[in-house]
Amino acid sequence: MNVADAIRGRRSVGRVRQDGISRERILRMVEAATWAPNHKVTEPWRFVVIAGDARDALGEAHADAVARANGSPLSPEARSGAVALTRRAPVIIVCICTPSSDDPVVRREDRDAVSAAVQNLGLAAHADGLGTIWRTGLFVDEDEVRAHLGCAPADEIVGFVYVGEPEEAPAAPPRRPAEEVTEWRGWD
Ligand SMILES: Cc1cc2nc3c(=O)[nH]c(=O)nc-3n(C[C@H](O)[C@H](O)[C@H](O)COP(=O)(O)O)c2cc1C
Repeated sequence: MNVADAIRGRRSVGRVRQDGISRERILRMVEAATWAPNHKVTEPWRFVVIAGDARDALGEAHADAVARANGSPLSPEARSGAVALTRRAPVIIVCICTPSSDDPVVRREDRDAVSAAVQNLGLAAHADGLGTIWRTGLFVDEDEVRAHLGCAPADEIVGFVYVGEPEEAPAAPPRRPAEEVTEWRGWD
């Protein structure tokens, strides 16, 4: 698959099968992620690959955070609903930025590099026939989830990339034409 086709054809795929994905395929995605551009090659990324019952442990951390935010324990139904969010795909790759410096410019660049890495994950998965969706939502800021993932105070969870064999082929959300978002200067 050439790059233009991969970029254009990648979709966010929310519905995927529960079949497991091999470590080799996941590692190929992560390797692609690590080739993202990265100012001064600080390599500010960390990837936590979660599958099987480990998804429930992540979901429990999220449920604890929701209960704390609500100020009361969740009903059993609400709790299992919150936990089940992590069962929407067989594998979740949590993409974490560990900034290489306190300098705000470096912190921004490091986070930008991790975002580029997340895009690479999605493109590599797509080229391998896998579906992904980059999810953020409440999870990324929840103390319980951050602690569960071993985040230091400066770490930022950039995304949860859900991965699986596609069960749908979503239509492409339209984009504005390139000409409309481009300002030309110094051109005839
Ligand atoms: C930073 C970021 C956060 C996102 N968070 C979510 C999310 O929490 N839930 C979700 O369904 N999609 C999420 N998405 C996926 C977008 O909704 C999706 O990229 C958009 O609808 C365009 O569709 P496409 O990726 O198929 O082109 C996120 C995308 C980005 C870049």
